[in-house]
Amino acid sequence: MEQKRYGHFDDQHREYVITDPQTPWPWINYLGNEDFFSLISNTAGGYSFYKDAKFRRITRYRYNNVPMDNGGRYFYIVDESNLNSQTSNLKPTIWNPGWKPCKTPLDFYECRHGMSYTRITGRKNGVEASVLFFVPLKKWCEVQKLTLKNESSEVKQLKLFSFEEWCLWNAATDMENFQRNFSTGEVEIEGSTIYHKTEYRERRNHYAFYHVNAPIQGYDTDRESFVGLYNEFADPQAVVEGKPRNSHAHGWSPIASHYIEVTLQPGESKDFVFLLGYIENEQDEKFEAPQVINKKKAHALIAELDTTEKVDKAFAELCEYWDALLNIYKVRTGNDKLDRMVNIWNQYQCMVTFNFSRSASFFESGVGRGMGFRDSNQDLVGFVHQIPPRARQRIIDIASTQFPDGGCYHQYQPLTKRGNNDIGGGFNDDPCWLIFGTVAYIKETGDFSILDEMVPFDNQPGSEVTLFEHLKISMDHVINNLGPHMLPLIGRADWNDCLNLNCFSWDPNESFQTTENVSEGTKAESLMIAGLFVVTGKDYVQLCKQLANRPLTSHPSPLTSSFFAEEANRMQQAVDAMIDAVKKHGWDGEWYLRAYDFYGRKIGSNECDEAKIFIESQGWCTMAEIGAEEGLVAKSLDSCKKYLECEHGMVLNNPAFSKYIYEYGEISSYPEGYKENAGIFCHNNPWVIIGECIAGRGNDAWSHYAKILPSYVEEKYQTLHKVEPYVNCQMVAGKDAFKPGEGKNSWLTGTAAWMWYTVSEFILGIKPDYDGIRIDPCLPETASDYTVNRKFREAEYDITIHPNGQQKGVKSITLDGNPIDGTVIPYSPGKHTVEVTM
Ligand code: BGC
Ligand code: NOJ
Repeated sequence: MEQKRYGHFDDQHREYVITDPQTPWPWINYLGNEDFFSLISNTAGGYSFYKDAKFRRITRYRYNNVPMDNGGRYFYIVDESNLNSQTSNLKPTIWNPGWKPCKTPLDFYECRHGMSYTRITGRKNGVEASVLFFVPLKKWCEVQKLTLKNESSEVKQLKLFSFEEWCLWNAATDMENFQRNFSTGEVEIEGSTIYHKTEYRERRNHYAFYHVNAPIQGYDTDRESFVGLYNEFADPQAVVEGKPRNSHAHGWSPIASHYIEVTLQPGESKDFVFLLGYIENEQDEKFEAPQVINKKKAHALIAELDTTEKVDKAFAELCEYWDALLNIYKVRTGNDKLDRMVNIWNQYQCMVTFNFSRSASFFESGVGRGMGFRDSNQDLVGFVHQIPPRARQRIIDIASTQFPDGGCYHQYQPLTKRGNNDIGGGFNDDPCWLIFGTVAYIKETGDFSILDEMVPFDNQPGSEVTLFEHLKISMDHVINNLGPHMLPLIGRADWNDCLNLNCFSWDPNESFQTTENVSEGTKAESLMIAGLFVVTGKDYVQLCKQLANRPLTSHPSPLTSSFFAEEANRMQQAVDAMIDAVKKHGWDGEWYLRAYDFYGRKIGSNECDEAKIFIESQGWCTMAEIGAEEGLVAKSLDSCKKYLECEHGMVLNNPAFSKYIYEYGEISSYPEGYKENAGIFCHNNPWVIIGECIAGRGNDAWSHYAKILPSYVEEKYQTLHKVEPYVNCQMVAGKDAFKPGEGKNSWLTGTAAWMWYTVSEFILGIKPDYDGIRIDPCLPETASDYTVNRKFREAEYDITIHPNGQQKGVKSITLDGNPIDGTVIPYSPGKHTVEVTM
């Protein structure tokens, strides 16, 4: 397969530049950082929502459509300057800056995806149209700043049509309940603003609007009037005829389209600011007259962004915001491919993943999943250094959905922050992740006070206990749910949502994820949870030891130093017992077993016909260093190389399942090489890589890492890889697949946080710790000197590492010229220089 290139990195501007609109798949970006969000493809497809992609969908988008990415914010430019009755050319040129939907060939096309903004530029017949899309900080709107420029030597008379299609708020019912939907749509038009107010007359107190800061010469708000029932987005009737209908939507499908006539002298350029906004009103201030929406807040928002200067200022603020975020951890290795991922794209993806969890991408429809308990906790390690206060809030939100026995809802809805009953609980790895996330937060910030926060169970007022108590019951949940081998019972599933050992489904109408599980009499145990328990258990022990020296004070019954000392002891024993259980019952000879099934039979063993080895338990048990002294860790890592590794990364299991196994559930439902059946789950490759790092095997760690690092992949495989070359995807088709190396599920994946955690802390070796920064790199022998500039609490460290051909092992460190003992740079505010010799 010819590996065509569709774009390249522009590191100076922190942009990915797409130079051909016909990418192998829509290559998207995310706008918005707090409440108002948009997805935007390289041809301006996508949609916007407020906080919750299901319940507050602002614009409509049809997933899995034909053509694939159909619907978005479209500008149609009608250029009649080529009309010539003599040559009988009676058709004007109609084009879009982003090529789609008209697909008129452009003289120039470029899409620059940057940090929370996208700029799409097209040129046709001497006219340049460039649109900057972004969501300003703290504002509930998407700005679309369109600049039209006449680069020809003739006067240009252009007709400009904007286009957005409203979603009737609930993205799920919007796509199914047409008997109602076709009668509810309502709009208002006032000057250059089109308001969408469907259902506002009843229980909604929110509306949306689409505005332009220029007089308009017409508009449309009814889809069929504008597009025509037998036309498409590619040739809306109103546009083709160059005439808006001034339609007023009553029911059916409301849209918003402005019509503007633009004259441009040679060399002249004009800016238009389009605003897609969202407004909420107080109940008693909903209307300004009977059934007329109160537009005060909309007017105010528009006034904040109604000139090019104001928009440019808002854009500059957004850029400064990203500068600050990306200035916290900066590496200079001299290897552009590594530096750009560490300094720009990996961190960016972590923030996007934090904002969106798993809700809205081009693979997640925004209606399916809420925020995952596990997902949100692990995402935390990706962004906690950038916005600790929001990490703090996230931890409290997550913990508030826990049950008194330590179990937890698997997901919660961001708008209500309530646990999701559809999916419920019973994923027995979930509780451990709360420790993982909280420890990362405290190490970054030194803020132990979070443990004093009073946090409810299942959001029930009156049920509050301290966050520390939540951590304690999280650990206890594992201890209280051990199976016959004293290994953790898996419950509905562990990290691998598709290893459904208690599910037993023959009914194709049932979802593996939500179907009732058999819990009576199960012997299904997980080695993945065992490893996770040991890793987080060690963290918990270390935390208790810290707390023994600084007891929590604000708790209603203050916990004493001796309590924490005893607690550390108690948990150490549980961890030791788990280590013993793994060594006794979890080792298969060359690798760690994966699990025991309902009946207590081995999974992921040489004795099995298929799926003899799984990656998850290798990752977690090597991270936990279980049996390192006896050589188990090294053997397990070697087995990963031998059986799991292929050109594109490590597959999840090997050999792949070739048939459905009733006792295993969804994992065996996938064809060979895809998803959880021997796909390359980029998410769990880092576990093994960290295992390699802890074992000091820098060459192996690096070679695994580079295989799934987007900047390396894009160099070789833009076409094959298919999805965005600037971010990781959840899954790359494995060696048994039809097309190994093809990526899927880009953007919203735990891979982002795990790649970041791996490279920042384990490869480059800069690890936040309670009392300072621990330096412990693990590098390939070929690594040259590098520098990390790390802001940490009130300090800034300039750390230069001299690897001297070593893979692991710090020999000496100087802090501001003075040698220090050990490998932790003690925290003290201010600027510091650190030299590290390996
Ligand atoms: C997917 C998993 C996912 C699960 C829960 C399954 O179909 O294969 O990757 O975690 O659904 O949404
Ligand atoms: C995707 C989910 O978001 C993640 O939590 C899960 O563990 C993996 N799929 C593996 O099944």
